[in-house]
Amino acid sequence: MGSFRVDFTLCFLLSVVLSKGLPSALASKEAWNYVEVRDGAHMFWWLYYADSVQAQYKDLPLVMWLQGGPGGSGTGFGNFEEIGPLNRDLEPRKTSWVQAANLLFVDNPVGTGFSYTDRPDAYATNVSTVASDMLVLLKHFFSEKPEFQSIAFYIFSESYGGKMAAAISLELTKAIAQGTVKCNFSGVALGDSWISPLDSVMTWGPYLYTTSLLDDYGLADVSKAAEAVKQAVEQGQFLKATELWSVTESAVERNTNGVNFYNILTQSSDEKLTSSAGLDFISLQKHRHIRPLHSQSLSQLMNGPIRKKLGIIPENVTWGGQADEVFTNMAGDFMKPVVDIVDQLLTAGVKVTVYNGQLDLIVDTMGQELWVKQLKWEGIRNFNELKWTPLDDPATPGITGAFCKTYKNFAFYWILKAGHMIPSDQGPMALQMLKMITQQA
Ligand SMILES: *[C@@H]1O[C@H](CO)[C@@H](O)[C@H](O)[C@H]1NC(C)=O
Ligand SMILES: *[C@@H]1O[C@H](CO)[C@@H](O)[C@H](O)[C@H]1NC(C)=O
Ligand SMILES: *[C@@H]1O[C@H](CO)[C@@H](O)[C@H](O)[C@H]1NC(C)=O
Repeated sequence: MGSFRVDFTLCFLLSVVLSKGLPSALASKEAWNYVEVRDGAHMFWWLYYADSVQAQYKDLPLVMWLQGGPGGSGTGFGNFEEIGPLNRDLEPRKTSWVQAANLLFVDNPVGTGFSYTDRPDAYATNVSTVASDMLVLLKHFFSEKPEFQSIAFYIFSESYGGKMAAAISLELTKAIAQGTVKCNFSGVALGDSWISPLDSVMTWGPYLYTTSLLDDYGLADVSKAAEAVKQAVEQGQFLKATELWSVTESAVERNTNGVNFYNILTQSSDEKLTSSAGLDFISLQKHRHIRPLHSQSLSQLMNGPIRKKLGIIPENVTWGGQADEVFTNMAGDFMKPVVDIVDQLLTAGVKVTVYNGQLDLIVDTMGQELWVKQLKWEGIRNFNELKWTPLDDPATPGITGAFCKTYKNFAFYWILKAGHMIPSDQGPMALQMLKMITQQA
């Protein structure tokens, strides 16, 4: 385990971004560390204390952010590309969530970001291990930082991170009841989350067809490929389902001339599509879904000034260096749904929020509606009968930025003009949603 460090962003800014001037909003304290969650499995976390003019950090919630992939890094992508205090150019982010919450980024599963394994057999291969690893981390975190034990604790997530967040939330609820973890767990938010993979895949065709991105031939082609995924899932052949999922993505790319899976209003570059030709399915998936979270500029930042600032990253550990292995090891679990876990959370009274970007394809809103409507939780009938409420976009008052609907401990936010990465696409709306979910607005 590495030594424990605390510093002030100020020092970092002075040493790294002096030439860019000193952003005033960044006096916030930080901390980070490794936890060995299993033998040979080291997990990295990075905490930013809230930085608000109105409130002390102790009066604001603690939000843990989990990235997707699996293999995407919260300390890298989530932090510098989405919600952290600084963007990838180390300039302050106006819509950083640090204004409204203490932010805890954790690189999970093990092997993601700055997390690493010493041995190839130490990677997680299913969400149960992902959850039990995180429980070890949280136990350490809350004993190392007891001042956070009573602060409202929320888990926010994106994409595959949502599947992990659901499983982790259930284990955490049990651990709190047993007294093995001390924290004030207050809810989980599932952003564009991979909760029911099949519902996502089955709606790609209809969604793209109604948005003029497939013709009749294309719709037939994509639907046929999706049917094959369905068969594999129904037969419990999950690794095969992951492979066929990839085949379906190829059908989408072919028929849409390369629509971007993360935002249907944009297109993948020809170069990206060409360089993926001839790859086996696992490599293809990494190419499509892991690499975009590891752009060259982000890698340079993380493996350059950030690693130097952190000071505890082992010599032979590279940020993102084991990301591909993380995905490969999880491939057999990837297409398994966790809808039943969401049901258990709701029944246990955990506050669950689903939020989804209107322009996301990979986890499209149509697919989310399908599994949500079929929840077994007793409140779902009443939820389904309610009308949604429009929310103003804080950036452009008078213009609708989202719709939302809440019944008891369940809420759904439909975020307009956003793709898969909601805080990057609609920063002010995402920040407003954070405040609403954590009861600050
Ligand atoms: C780094 O080096 C140590 C010591 O040689 C070794 O035990 C460990 O497996 C290496 N870790 C990685 C991630 O390569
Ligand atoms: C998850 O993986 C671990 C380690 O390989 C294994 O022991 C466990 O049985 C698996 N759990 C499930 C639910 O598949
Ligand atoms: C948990 O957080 C909420 C919201 O801040 C607070 O009202 C409540 O007292 C906290 N509970 C505990 C047990 O600390």
